[in-house]
Amino acid sequence: MNLYDKIQATAAFIQSRIKSIPTVGIILGSGLGDLTHAIETETEIDYEGVPYFPVSTVKGHSGKLLFGKMSGVNVMLMAGRFHYYEGYSMEEVTFPVRVMKALGVETLILSNAAGGTNAVFAIGDLMIIKDHINLFPEHPLRGPNDERLGTRFPDMSQPYDHALIESAKEIAAKNNITVRTGTYVGLQGPTFETPAEYKWLHTIGCDAVGMSTVPEVIVARHGGMRVFAISVITDLGITDVPVIITHEEVLEAAHAAAPKMATLVTGIVAGLKS
Ligand code: HPA
Repeated sequence: MNLYDKIQATAAFIQSRIKSIPTVGIILGSGLGDLTHAIETETEIDYEGVPYFPVSTVKGHSGKLLFGKMSGVNVMLMAGRFHYYEGYSMEEVTFPVRVMKALGVETLILSNAAGGTNAVFAIGDLMIIKDHINLFPEHPLRGPNDERLGTRFPDMSQPYDHALIESAKEIAAKNNITVRTGTYVGLQGPTFETPAEYKWLHTIGCDAVGMSTVPEVIVARHGGMRVFAISVITDLGITDVPVIITHEEVLEAAHAAAPKMATLVTGIVAGLKS
């Protein structure tokens, strides 16, 4: 079956199980599962039961789709994403975004845990992504283009929606939450970076580095969705003194920042009420 037909089949399966059609999609990053409490869940579907969905394997990712209301808006939330380093193809990594679009999602909100490479950042900071650099070894749009999904050569002059960035900054200010803004660099992982790599990332304009988000954003923009993305800075790669990073520390720091993240995300969604 071709990609388009798979997307339609999966969307039809989901449609037959949900009560209301989502207009906002949310993808949660590592350690940010607490955000699932910010949604009044109507329907929950495990990834295992969804046709053509890969199965999530990483600790800290539970692997389910939640449908319901957030700030009075119909949302669809992915608790647990698919990473390229897990061995999935780019088509698999980005498939849920395609399905969201087919279901009626117009705005995609993504979160992730990331390493800070900007010297003024601190662990636990939130960073609104204003731009990205794609350093994944494979492009999610490589291969024949299906015009029903988007154009062959998508514009990327404004991948992250300016109005949503402004809205997030206002919500942060109102709630006394410090937010940074910066450029996210997407790498395949699963190794964290060497000291020399962190230094190099800094020189190319990286503020935060991680192993996700970029492929999903590209596919969302290909499909014409509005995108907002935000990182929790869970570790720092900024000094010449090597710091050992563990996945557990990343999860812990992300978990600690989850309430701030929930305030921002629910606020942004409230602003999307039509
Ligand atoms: N590098 C890459 N990915 C990450 C990091 C990091 O330092 N922290 C959390 N995800």
